[in-house]
Amino acid sequence: MLTKDSTNSIRQKYLYKYVTPEQAVKVIKSNDRIYIQSGCAYPQRLVEAMTARGHELNDVEICHLMVFGEAPYMKPEMEGHFRHNGFFLGANTRKAVNTGKADFMPIFLSEIPHLINHDTKHMVDVVLIQVSPPDMHGFCSMGVAVDCTKAAVHVAKYVIAQVNPKMPRVHGDSFININDIDYAFEYEQDLQELPGMHAKKEPDELKIFQKIGQNIADLIEDGSTLQMGIGAIPDAVLGLLADRKDLGIHTEMFSDGVIPLIEKGVINCDKKTLLRGKMVTSFVLGSHKLFEYIHENPFVEMRTTDFVNDPFVIARNDKMVAINSCLQVDLTGQVCSDSIGYNFYSGFGGQVDFIRGASRSKGGKPIIALQSTAKKGTLSRIVPHLDEGAGVTTSRGDVRWIVTEYGAVDLHGMNVRERVHALIGISHPKFREELEKHARDKKYI
Ligand code: COA
Repeated sequence: MLTKDSTNSIRQKYLYKYVTPEQAVKVIKSNDRIYIQSGCAYPQRLVEAMTARGHELNDVEICHLMVFGEAPYMKPEMEGHFRHNGFFLGANTRKAVNTGKADFMPIFLSEIPHLINHDTKHMVDVVLIQVSPPDMHGFCSMGVAVDCTKAAVHVAKYVIAQVNPKMPRVHGDSFININDIDYAFEYEQDLQELPGMHAKKEPDELKIFQKIGQNIADLIEDGSTLQMGIGAIPDAVLGLLADRKDLGIHTEMFSDGVIPLIEKGVINCDKKTLLRGKMVTSFVLGSHKLFEYIHENPFVEMRTTDFVNDPFVIARNDKMVAINSCLQVDLTGQVCSDSIGYNFYSGFGGQVDFIRGASRSKGGKPIIALQSTAKKGTLSRIVPHLDEGAGVTTSRGDVRWIVTEYGAVDLHGMNVRERVHALIGISHPKFREELEKHARDKKYI
């Protein structure tokens, strides 16, 4: 049992590593590539110190997954000093990418660790992380985000860590020994929560998500293992599973929505065929309640995305149900999830990894769910063809279940004529005639 005294003596033992954040970031040089731990693990104090040095540096490349807040290295005055190269875009990076001031790299989440580890072009010079304090063996936990960070830690010339007592200590592959950290400093700070998670949806919109959620929940059998992302659709599904039994989790990320189902005993991972008894994830995005839940919790197994998102690993879970979202689907089943026309919106993330993994799983169900319309009902998301410039995320060869508030269809094994009828059948009724006319003009039907 660790006492306050022993915690202090551990701290004393490793104190030689400790410098100020400003001293730590002095190792960054012009033209370096920096990887920043992402999501709720974003090391805010460290990023602040790095950005303050911006005027001394030129062409430093900043890589990360989605981060929240203002991303200070992307401010206009930082142009020429820092340039962002994003693996997944968020609200704070989208505009810069779409105005040519930052870059976007389309890539599967499962393949980023390999890219970082084995492609010398993508060698990371400095990695900025946020970790829990060292334990009695010197191990710090990367806490809420292991994802691709562990790969960056392995190859980086310098590892700099913000040691934050508020970072949870998470089981699995989340550990780094303090001896493998080049510079550390202790700074207690609230972790960033997922923005907007406490926001309330309009009642009409909530009704739509409830219907989509119900159509998905109807596909989920007892004993299934689930992957899902963030947002209103996964939350609606989770809220409708209270009467299910023995659900498991194998997912790139989860949020607060799983906690009530764990407390009710619905999610127990008892029937999982891979890592039974463990909720497997590579990061979490949520509130402080979630961070407290995963702290020192042996039920949670945090692994890197080259493992969690590997379609062959995913497929080892029988009855794997993958629930993902998209922006548009065309009448042949091509799914766009990362762009709105020529504007990049997000990224591949783990969508294709999980669609492919769930397709190969015994009894698996790969699902793409979407509201039938966008922009307050003025646009159909089921479209004759994807918008000019929009990219295919899930191809028409990979696609299986598509779910809207009007129903669920499994496109696998359907020819184009059958797909057109099936997709029109779950589109918003006010767009059906127009979609049918296009399909007839193009001789699809
Ligand atoms: N045309 C124009 N605008 C559209 C549109 C379309 N076809 N579809 C959506 N939009 C708009 C919406 O109206 C909304 O605008 P608003 O913010 O002004 O309201 C915005 O685009 C976002 O759409 P929404 O459906 O609310 O997105 P979301 O937050 O639910 O995210 C994805 C959906 C597809 C972007 C997201 O799930 C994603 O990035 N997926 C790819 C990665 C992935 O699946 N990873 C695995 C799980 S983590």
